[in-house]
Amino acid sequence: GIRTNRICCIGAGYVGGPTMATIALKCPHLQVDIVDMNEERISRWNSDDLPIYEPGLGEVVKACRGKNLFFSTDVKKGVEEADIIFASVNTPTKTQGVGKGRAADLRFIESVGRTIAQFANRSKIVIEKSTVPIKTAEAIARVLSANEAASGSRKNFWILSNPEFLAEGTAMADLDQPDRVLIGGQDQDAIGVLVDIYANWVPRERILCTNLWSSELSKLVANAFLAQRVSSINSISRLCERTGADVKEVSRAVGADTRIGPKFLNASVGFGGSCFQKDILNLVYICQQFGLEEEGAYWQQVVDMNDHQKVTFTSKIIQALFNTVTKKKIAVFGFAFKKDTGDVRETPALLVCDMLMKDGAIVHVYDPKVAIEDALQEFKYHDLEVNQSQFIFSTSAEEACDGAHAIVVLTEWDEFKKYDYQKFYSKMMKPAFLFDGRNMLDHAGLEKIGFEVHALGKARVATEHHHQDFVMRAGSKPLGTS
Ligand code: NAI
Repeated sequence: GIRTNRICCIGAGYVGGPTMATIALKCPHLQVDIVDMNEERISRWNSDDLPIYEPGLGEVVKACRGKNLFFSTDVKKGVEEADIIFASVNTPTKTQGVGKGRAADLRFIESVGRTIAQFANRSKIVIEKSTVPIKTAEAIARVLSANEAASGSRKNFWILSNPEFLAEGTAMADLDQPDRVLIGGQDQDAIGVLVDIYANWVPRERILCTNLWSSELSKLVANAFLAQRVSSINSISRLCERTGADVKEVSRAVGADTRIGPKFLNASVGFGGSCFQKDILNLVYICQQFGLEEEGAYWQQVVDMNDHQKVTFTSKIIQALFNTVTKKKIAVFGFAFKKDTGDVRETPALLVCDMLMKDGAIVHVYDPKVAIEDALQEFKYHDLEVNQSQFIFSTSAEEACDGAHAIVVLTEWDEFKKYDYQKFYSKMMKPAFLFDGRNMLDHAGLEKIGFEVHALGKARVATEHHHQDFVMRAGSKPLGTS
């Protein structure tokens, strides 16, 4: 029998925090302990200044913290006292050694396995919440059973896979009403324990149970399919720019087909976030490990197209600004990889800003939730040098625009739609350029103000008229004056 009133989650990050807060809220009869070795993170979880921003998260944490939700650095105690242990640690792409740049770095997952083996005093259910390569559960099981055998005790560990499908920015809503919860495992009783927890708020028909490997692989495939849609529409946006089609119109028409659906069909500067690229690279690596070269190459192309999109978008900016941005102030709206989060991991803004700065631009970033330290950390993680006199964070969008040659929109924050662009325009150098990397603003209205707007996936017919107009007027002037 498995007692089920104590839950421990190892890893208090973007997934562990919101997920466990939701379980605590929906299951007042359970006690949830979240443990992490990162002391600063834990102390922020215990303060009013939470380490991550998610709409609605603060309220839930406030309601449960100190009642049935606890944050601590005491991993040992958490493991000892829990009956169910979630592993929600990071699984980044390996930066060195075998599989560098593709394979998932499983050292944190492995260390969780070893920690549990070390501290577990009785039988427990161990749940993979992290996104992991297929067959990772087997590795965890081996670490646990080898240590068991060595110590001669007779504890049982049931390993389940329970990948998380939440999206940053909408995590709390996604957790509250998930499209599905996926549970993979071999032991029906252990699966039943986890099903019963979710059934406190998720309709049972949305709780899908399957075997371990299908569950692990499904998470990688879901992310690969989502990212694939972004790369697909982005490739079409380039074709639209050449032909006079408008990618928004194409998305609308294509997405109206119920077999395709309208979501994830927005052309943009490219996808970012800690997951899409890492999970696809991981999928590619797994394909290659099994000798499936063509299959791996197929998915690799999704990542390559995304990199290409970031480069072409930035090249277009430099080209439009008369082929040089040296010493030019560029206002960058948004640095987070998407709206409603402060997360900058793998944000497309990184490459865009880097390219602009390498060409000599002075980049002034405004983002409502990103701190400059986090942005600089991400540059460092990618081995990119930043000259701090070229990379400045503004406290408002207006300040960023003052004296700027161009506005570059990189994150789809709602507030960017509501600004007084007339006012911004009056403070900018002329011609004033606007590059909409999210295709989210009112382009016709901006053109009317006087901006030269570059949308994604749409040829610049408007300015060509503008330009012709100007040439004609300029040309007719001498006649009129004589
Ligand atoms: P994160 O980096 O925000 O959090 C992971 C935490 O685990 C860190 O705070 C780290 O200090 C802690 N940690 C690592 N090893 C530890 C150990 N041995 N003992 C104690 N603490 C340890 O990562 P995030 O974004 O929460 O992702 C976690 C997993 O969930 C990854 O596998 C990711 O692919 C997956 N995932 C992420 C989603 C997202 O939107 N961020 C969505 C769905 C899945």
